[in-house]
Amino acid sequence: MSFLKHLHVAYRLQPICPIEGRFGARGQAEFPLRALQFKRGLLHEFQKGNTSKEQVHLHDLVQQLPKAIIIGVRKGGTRALLEMLNLHPAVVKASQEIHFFDNDENYAKGIEWYRKKMPFSYPQQITIEKSPAYFITEEVPERIYKMNSSIKLLIIVREPTTRAISDYTQVLEGKERKNKTYYKFEKLAIDPNTCEVNTKYKAVRTSIYTKHLERWLKYFPIEQFHIVDGDRLITEPLPELQLVEKFLNLPPRISQYNLYFNATRGFYCLRFNIIFNKCLAGSKGRIHPEVDPSVITKLRKFFHPFNQKFYQITGRTLNWP
Ligand code: A3P
Repeated sequence: MSFLKHLHVAYRLQPICPIEGRFGARGQAEFPLRALQFKRGLLHEFQKGNTSKEQVHLHDLVQQLPKAIIIGVRKGGTRALLEMLNLHPAVVKASQEIHFFDNDENYAKGIEWYRKKMPFSYPQQITIEKSPAYFITEEVPERIYKMNSSIKLLIIVREPTTRAISDYTQVLEGKERKNKTYYKFEKLAIDPNTCEVNTKYKAVRTSIYTKHLERWLKYFPIEQFHIVDGDRLITEPLPELQLVEKFLNLPPRISQYNLYFNATRGFYCLRFNIIFNKCLAGSKGRIHPEVDPSVITKLRKFFHPFNQKFYQITGRTLNWP
């Protein structure tokens, strides 16, 4: 029996996922069950090399350029956002960060190279990729504009000082893995000569969201962006995801059933159906080092005017300190 036949039988015998069950007649017409089967099983099998390209072609599957991109921000919760959106039957994620627009070597390979990096999907589904470096890389807005001037752009942000510390924690972990020593966060974030915030430190610069956004606004109107509150995505993911569904003009399909709090991980995890659950990798949700409170205060004061500008431009107030 072919793999596809196996899959079909398996899906008929096993209980149906509640989000599929809630599809009315209209929903089914929009997202055929076989698309769901592909998303939930065949895609993984294909990626693992368990089924051939020929079989996939039989099902009219195509590799589509993304209709929406999570452009950043690094450590904002970009992976969690992508994985959670992928719960939606009409969304297909590009699993890897592709780094097409921010990497000159990749960009030189051309748009067909990029398209071939995309997952297989049905024409009525939308592909989403995430590469957080896009947000801060000078050339990217123009390059994305040239591909698709009406693309939807998602930016997930966290309180800027927390994000900077998270960024530092990731770099620190990399150094420790290589048995290298590294500076303390305080030393990097504060210029020892002036005692002012060190704006040359990348983790600080990345958190000045408004500066980066302003570059993007030279190419795209603000209506093409949606801001996701990364702090709320951690504590209360569903309402944030529902706002994204609306922004992407998708019918609401992600429900509380799809998200459950895992006390051991201390984060929400994903439930596709009664069989498939997953939490994000352990590299998401690291314990941050303790940082001198006076440095935190200084950073928060520094970010404050930039945050105000960010709220004003985006129309989303996040009440950061
Ligand atoms: P920390 O490691 O600082 O806690 P990114 O994917 O952009 O690198 O972001 C990583 C951050 O995603 C983590 O930062 C974590 O707080 C956040 N996050 C949000 N929702 C999460 C979830 N459900 N599981 C794990 N991490 C999550």
